[in-house]
Amino acid sequence: MRETKLSAHDIILPLFVSEKVERRRAITSLPGVFQLSVNEAVEEARHASELGLQALLLFGIPAAKDDRASAAFAEDGIVQQAVRAIKQRCPDLVVITDVCLCEYTSHGHCGVTKLDGEHFHVLNDETVELLAKTAISHATAGADLVAPSDMMDGRVGAIRQALDEHGFEETGIMSYAAKFASAFYGPFREAAESPPQYGDRQSYQMDSANAAEALREAALDVEEGADILMVKPALPYLDILWRVRKRFGKPTAVYHVSGEFAMVKAGAANGCFEERAAVLEIMTSLKRAGADLIVTYWAKELAQWTQE
Ligand code: PBG
Repeated sequence: MRETKLSAHDIILPLFVSEKVERRRAITSLPGVFQLSVNEAVEEARHASELGLQALLLFGIPAAKDDRASAAFAEDGIVQQAVRAIKQRCPDLVVITDVCLCEYTSHGHCGVTKLDGEHFHVLNDETVELLAKTAISHATAGADLVAPSDMMDGRVGAIRQALDEHGFEETGIMSYAAKFASAFYGPFREAAESPPQYGDRQSYQMDSANAAEALREAALDVEEGADILMVKPALPYLDILWRVRKRFGKPTAVYHVSGEFAMVKAGAANGCFEERAAVLEIMTSLKRAGADLIVTYWAKELAQWTQE
C-alpha cells in the first residue's frame, strides 16, 4: 500500500575533490563528509557503485584561485582530473559535474565581478561565457551531465549551444532551475572553500518569498534545453518542488543541502530524534513532493537503509 518508495537509484552522492588534499580532510561542519584527493574520490566512487548508487555530483577545490576563475576550465583542473579517473575505473557510474565559478574565484562569487565604489556587480554575460567553457572542459573529460548552479541568466542555453557545437550532443544538463539565496548553504561554503569575500549572493540567487518567479526561472531553463530541473534547498521549498514537477513534467531533482544535513546531525547528536528515522522521513517527503532524484550527503547510508 505504500505510495512512495525510495531507492538507491534516485539518489545522487555529492563529492568534494580537492587539489590541496593528500588523501582526505574532514569538513567540521559536515560530519562524515570529506574533501578528497583524486585517488580517494575514485575509491569513494567504487564504494558508491558497490552500494548500488548510480550517480555522483562532483565539486572541485582548486589549489589556486583568481578573479576570472581560470582553474574552473583548465584542462588539467581538479574536476577534469577526477572525472577522467572515475570514468576510467567506474565507467557505468553517471558522473555529473557542478558548473559554477564560486569555488574558483578569489572573491568567492559565482561569476566575474566588477567593483564600483562600495558596490559590486556580477557581470552576467562574461560569466556565462566562462561557464560554457567550463562545461565543455567537463564534457571533454567525460562528464555525463553538467549541472550549472550559478543562476546567471541565459546560461543553460549558452551551455547547450556550446556543448552541441563541440560534438557533445549527448551530454545532458541538470540545471539548478530554482536556487534560492538560503541560510542553509553555510557548511557547503566551508567544504568548498567558497564563502563570498564581500557582499552576498542575493543579486543572483532567488528570494525565498518568490514561488511564481521560481516557475518562470524553471520555464526559461526548459526552453533553453535543460534535461533535469533542480530545486534547492529541499525542505523549505517542497511547494516549489511540487509545482515544478507538476507544471513541466520533466525529471526533477532536489538538493537536500549542507545546512539541512547539519541540522539533522545536530538534532540527532543532541538526542532529539533518531537519525535514521528522521532521514528516511525527510527523503520520503521529498519523493512524495515530486522529486525523481535527490542529492544528499546521506547517499551511502540511504543506499544501505533502502535495501534493508
Ligand atoms: C554554488 C553551490 C552552492 C551549493 C551547491 N553549489 C552554494 C552556494 O550557492 O553558496 C550548496 C550546496 C549545499 O549547501 O549543500 N555553486
